[in-house]
Amino acid sequence: MGSAITGWGEALPDHVVTNDDFASRLDTSDEWIVARTGIRERRMGGSTSELAAEAGRAALKVAGLEGSDVDLLVLATTTPDQAIPATSSAVHDALDCRGGAFDLNAACAGFVYALVTADALLGIGHHRRALVIGSETLTKLTDQQDRSTAVLFGDGAAAVVLESGARDELVVAYDLGVDGSATPLLYADHGGYIHMEGREVFRRAVRAELESIERVLESAGARPEDVALFVPHQANVRIIEAVNQRVGLPMERTALVLDRTGNTSAASIPLALAEAADAGRVSEGDLVLLSGFGAGMTWASAVIRWGRRGVGR
Ligand code: UT7
Repeated sequence: MGSAITGWGEALPDHVVTNDDFASRLDTSDEWIVARTGIRERRMGGSTSELAAEAGRAALKVAGLEGSDVDLLVLATTTPDQAIPATSSAVHDALDCRGGAFDLNAACAGFVYALVTADALLGIGHHRRALVIGSETLTKLTDQQDRSTAVLFGDGAAAVVLESGARDELVVAYDLGVDGSATPLLYADHGGYIHMEGREVFRRAVRAELESIERVLESAGARPEDVALFVPHQANVRIIEAVNQRVGLPMERTALVLDRTGNTSAASIPLALAEAADAGRVSEGDLVLLSGFGAGMTWASAVIRWGRRGVGR
């Protein structure tokens, strides 16, 4: 028995911060930020649990479900509201879910890690409906006076509902990995701000994502041309273009939101997926490729089959 994505939704804070807002107080410009990253604006505000609950509520609405129908909640986040308890507790309470809930931190690869984990737990058969959320408030971890990181990150959340009982497997193939020796390249200490060796992270990100995509496509027995939609982590459009060019995936079949959201870490892949699903860019039976990389350095790719055949309600 497989599972299916039956709902999706997003939550973005109302406050928009444009590149010109940064240029008015830092030594940067709209031209530099757009040319080097592809980012035009990002959102700022809210807490990780508030954004997660709002995204979860939106996803449940699309699925036609209530929070009490959910019996597993997985929240991917690098920016929990508190050290203790897990932020998923507050989200579980706000949505009135049942069953268990836990946070998962795999940085920008977190959503794919969470999706694969939830799908596997549904597959065991003890759960029927899972809510998988990526939610981040990275602006609070970013030194707003540091032009090299402040312009990159944004706040936001997105969620999907997974239901068991589908005829097809949701996760056709996946690839998860981490290289802990690269930790000094991207980290934030307790109480500190994000430190990133941007150029080296860029270089490794392209390589890690490329190799992970090659492995996952091979496991899925799929070729790049079989992928109806590619949903990459949204850190830098130049990384996405470099990966696409090497893999042979056209930008027309790629979901992009980073021009409007900046890098939202674990929220970036579900934000792009939710927007693409809302726009009708995925159909029953389509293969969708998800791929992310981030601090750790972690990476995660999955080939999923879109569609809800067999999930009858
Ligand atoms: O999601 C987690 C993973 N993170 C990432 O994937 C981020 C990966 N890295 C990147 O996206 C890029 O490396 C950055 C966008 C962070 C930087 O772009 P870059 O093309 O690699 O620039 P750079 O770091 O090599 O810096 C080039 C120049 C430097 O000046 P000098 O040393 O050449 O005089 C920087 O000081 O650009 C300068 N610079 C800026 N200039 C204007 C750095 N930030 C800015 C800025 N505005 N905001």
